[in-house]
Amino acid sequence: MCGIVGYVGTEQATPILLEGLSRLEYRGYDSAGVAVYSRQQEALRVYKAKGRLRVLSDMLQGGAAADGTTGIGHTRWATHGAPSDVNSHPQVSHSGKIAVVHNGIIENYAELKEFLLSEGVPFTSETDTEVVAQLIAYFYEGEHLSLLEAVGRTLLRLEGAYALGILCADAPDKLIAVRKDSPLILGYGEGCSFLASDVTAILRYTREVGYMDDGEVAVLTRDGIACYNYLMQPIEKEIIHIDWEIDAAEKGGYEHFMFKEIMEQPEALRRCIFPRVRDGAVYFEDFHLSDDYICALKKICIIACGSSYHVGVVGKYHLERMTRIPVEVALASEFRYMDPIVDSSTLVVVISQSGETLDTMAALREAKRLGAHVLSIVNVVGSSIARESDQVLYTWAGPEIAVATTKGYSTQLAVVNLLGVYFARVLGTMTAQACVDLLEEMLLLPGKMEQVLAHPEDIQYWASQYFNHDSVFYIGRNVDYALGLEASLKLKEISYVHSEAYASGELKHGTISLVEDGTLVVALGTYGRLFEKAMSNVVEVKARGADVLALTTESRAAEMAKTATAVLTIPDTHELVLPSLGVVPMQLFAYYVALMRGCDIDKPRNLAKSVTVE
Ligand code: M6R
Repeated sequence: MCGIVGYVGTEQATPILLEGLSRLEYRGYDSAGVAVYSRQQEALRVYKAKGRLRVLSDMLQGGAAADGTTGIGHTRWATHGAPSDVNSHPQVSHSGKIAVVHNGIIENYAELKEFLLSEGVPFTSETDTEVVAQLIAYFYEGEHLSLLEAVGRTLLRLEGAYALGILCADAPDKLIAVRKDSPLILGYGEGCSFLASDVTAILRYTREVGYMDDGEVAVLTRDGIACYNYLMQPIEKEIIHIDWEIDAAEKGGYEHFMFKEIMEQPEALRRCIFPRVRDGAVYFEDFHLSDDYICALKKICIIACGSSYHVGVVGKYHLERMTRIPVEVALASEFRYMDPIVDSSTLVVVISQSGETLDTMAALREAKRLGAHVLSIVNVVGSSIARESDQVLYTWAGPEIAVATTKGYSTQLAVVNLLGVYFARVLGTMTAQACVDLLEEMLLLPGKMEQVLAHPEDIQYWASQYFNHDSVFYIGRNVDYALGLEASLKLKEISYVHSEAYASGELKHGTISLVEDGTLVVALGTYGRLFEKAMSNVVEVKARGADVLALTTESRAAEMAKTATAVLTIPDTHELVLPSLGVVPMQLFAYYVALMRGCDIDKPRNLAKSVTVE
């Protein structure tokens, strides 16, 4: 979703802003813009363009066309007003003095706009963001408050979620940053300062960052950053050193981030699993759920969105089996409005790759309000969800850039299993030997995944046979059904092929009427206990003319091949590790179908990597 970058220093700002914005492209956007203060013209210069960042960059000759050492930049994902040059950010006050970039939504913008219109303030865009620029100008120029006071007064009037970068023509050596419910980080450089919605935007220039908390305001100059709380009292910000390499966020010779990240999964899993497994037991760093607390738990409630929710669906099967504690899974966007039955005897497990998904964050807050303890499984270190949770388990997958999550999903799944083993040992619901057996297979998972990844051409071939289909059904039972949900989402989000996932047993209750000659059904049959049932469903849809692409384990491939049109295989493994391996051919299938259909794989239409609006 929208990206923000800001720079104040001694270098030319525009090339730095364009470079930063290019690092944020993965978040999804439809237009881009920058504002810089030009000393020659003693005014703000604003450049905006609908479409790809390339259009803006060409307009600015890569940055050479816009002179100035202080500036803000933005990639916009339209919410209020269609994607257009005029609706792009920065939005500027009618006086031309105040420029604002904004992520989030100003919920009461209509009311504020009406007030400003009644005061004779003219508007040019349809955005909620313009209201912010105009309101700051109203207090700054109209009521002659200082810039900081004008910003403070404006914040008192705003409702909603926002991260703001503010530049004023009268204060060309400073930027103001504001955060409420939308992430914003500060970067501390040598003789310069940065603000950004995501650390990748500024990593090339500094590794020293500070995470802004809700309600905080920061004033950035080339000499440093002053931070204030919501009462405008000065506060000290902890500076955190980011130690991952910038290469991790680059394509490294791969055509797409998604393919690179699929291939990175074994390594990501090694980082996630290996340090936590010792002598047949699980050890979490900095873990503070006591054995007494775990033994007193009445319920676990998993909350997440999208693929993270699908991890939760697998998690329900796995955690119930391992711990015998009832597990509910809720979509975060539903949870917050459903009057949930959650209290201090419930452990709420929040799953989020980005740690910034707004619906998930809102659900987390609701769970805490109801007295639950919140444990989050998060990839992005220092993200909002990680910081607001009582307990965090990081997935250590490294930066994930492609909108379609892959290594995020598989590492989340690994953490869920590790958590299950940890709880089971405390609760005595698995024997020591059963824990050892599972952990041994988890340690073998990266190697087995490498075997699957060694032959993507098999999957590529079947994608070439089916990429023209308009509709695909994924069927499976138990964890294969949960896997189908993720496989189906992967396909539809990047290839725009309609697809649905069904629990196979439900076919006869309606869906099978859609199956006819040539319908593509992907039958997931990895779960050994229900293999015979999976076979029956394959026979059922084949009898109605479907083409069946099946996925099963190597030991069952021959049996499956008797019925299915084609069979993809994964190595045999522990039942609780099957979805971790099974997802890989499904990710590759979706990738190749999207590739053959000529889709923009890393940045699918209408989607954003981190969904920071409701
Ligand atoms: O960052 P999160 O895990 O909270 O994101 C949740 C979903 O937005 C995300 O999984 C989305 O569904 C992905 N595009 C799926 O590939």
